[in-house]
Amino acid sequence: MQELVFATHNEHKAREIQAILSHEYRILSLDDVKYQDPVPENENSLEGNASQKAWFIHHRLGKDCFADDSGLEVDCLNGAPGVYSARYADLTDERKADEPASVANIRKLLAQMHGETNRNARFRTIIALILDGKEYIFEGMVEGEILEGRKGSGGFGYDPVFLPSGYTDTFAEMSLEEKNIISHRALAVLKLVTFLKKYRPE
Ligand code: IMP
Repeated sequence: MQELVFATHNEHKAREIQAILSHEYRILSLDDVKYQDPVPENENSLEGNASQKAWFIHHRLGKDCFADDSGLEVDCLNGAPGVYSARYADLTDERKADEPASVANIRKLLAQMHGETNRNARFRTIIALILDGKEYIFEGMVEGEILEGRKGSGGFGYDPVFLPSGYTDTFAEMSLEEKNIISHRALAVLKLVTFLKKYRPE
């Protein structure tokens, strides 16, 4: 069976995709291939980071592989936090000692948006795939708005303040099953999987 390395240490993400592609591909996480060194991720766009990670691992291991990068883009903040979503509060030293990143990130986001009436935002995921030496890009996106306060206790990251368009529950109030139907990550993975299931080498 054809092997495909997923440039992530997140076993959960790797197993999720493996389950969908169980007949076509064997998905290997970086832990599966015993790759422990850091993977560079220092571009200034989601596309740049996903592509950089995928090519880096491809060159290191000489294998077909893919990498992802996600972020929250807020219109009134000109697309911030975007590629810096994971460490938004750290950029300006706004995280207290022992405070989870997501708590500090949301506090900073709400402060930056204080008084703003345009609260439109989207989550975006980019997946870069390197297959037979060629690169393919897949994008998943979910539009919504940033609430003025937290609502819900599930999920992770910015979920408690993100209300997807057309819904009354935030991502933090949805079950994982509900979120997985509409989420940026799920949509990008679906595009990747659809492509891989149809792919035949030239
Ligand atoms: P990653 O590329 O999947 O690691 O995502 C980068 C960062 O974007 C995360 O650390 C979160 O801050 C934010 N993020 C990405 N996806 C989500 C989501 O589904 N809910 C909430 N925050 C997210």
